Amino acid sequence: MLRNNNHPTIVTIEKVMDETPTVRTLVFSDEIMSNVLPGQFAMVWIPGINELPMSVMISQDSGKAAFTVRKHGPASTGLFNVKVGQQIGVRGPYGNSFDIKQGRLLLVGGGTGLVPMMRLLTCVKSTDDVTLLIGAKSKDEVFFEDLAKNLLKNNPHRVIVSTDDGSYGEKGFVTDLVEKLVSENHYDGVYVCGPETMMFKTLQSAHSQGLFVQASLERMMKCGVGICGSCCIGEDLVCRDGTVFDGQHLSQNKEFGYFHRNKAGILENY
Ligand code: FES
Repeated sequence: MLRNNNHPTIVTIEKVMDETPTVRTLVFSDEIMSNVLPGQFAMVWIPGINELPMSVMISQDSGKAAFTVRKHGPASTGLFNVKVGQQIGVRGPYGNSFDIKQGRLLLVGGGTGLVPMMRLLTCVKSTDDVTLLIGAKSKDEVFFEDLAKNLLKNNPHRVIVSTDDGSYGEKGFVTDLVEKLVSENHYDGVYVCGPETMMFKTLQSAHSQGLFVQASLERMMKCGVGICGSCCIGEDLVCRDGTVFDGQHLSQNKEFGYFHRNKAGILENY
């Protein structure tokens, strides 16, 4: 039967990997999800609990894809607790993807915002000069470092970890590192995904140097297909117009970096 990407396809979890005490990666077989572009997402149905948007993680095995989830609310905790052999529903992929430049690239990921950065690493050319910054609160929250070094085997030293408390890697906010690097180097493209205040500061730093920059945004999503409006940010719908937006476009947006909307659609300050 022909697959309808707007209907959940049922997949079985084949492997679960603990990344940190609160973050897990769940691997499953799905040819379509294994080939999504960096920045695209899927709507994931956890039976009996809810549906939530998830950026699609890479898998080392062909035909397989994964989700990396941090337990937080009921839906993400439900997905976090899914065991090998259990089934979930997956629809999509949805959304646009990063405009991948060539040359010297700076990738910045915080928390599960690293997921689209891992997928982006699989798309860069071996001739590109790529630096990945991984931001975390503390050593316990660092993950994907080895995977990133493996993907960047031509220059694994270009994977730099910073922790807010200095318990691992460079000490301080990853945005301070971004500010320093963009002031010392020219980058042909800067790409960021993570907490919105982190993305906001990254965009400010990149713009101060006139650099091309894109961010992959996260918003409350219910339909995933541009109908319900729950993911709006100003005039844009993150599910339909994103998740990836140009920095220049975001700099005109009055909500980006300042407000998000709660489940009732009411604006709340960051
Ligand atoms: S999630 Fe419904 S419009 Fe974007």
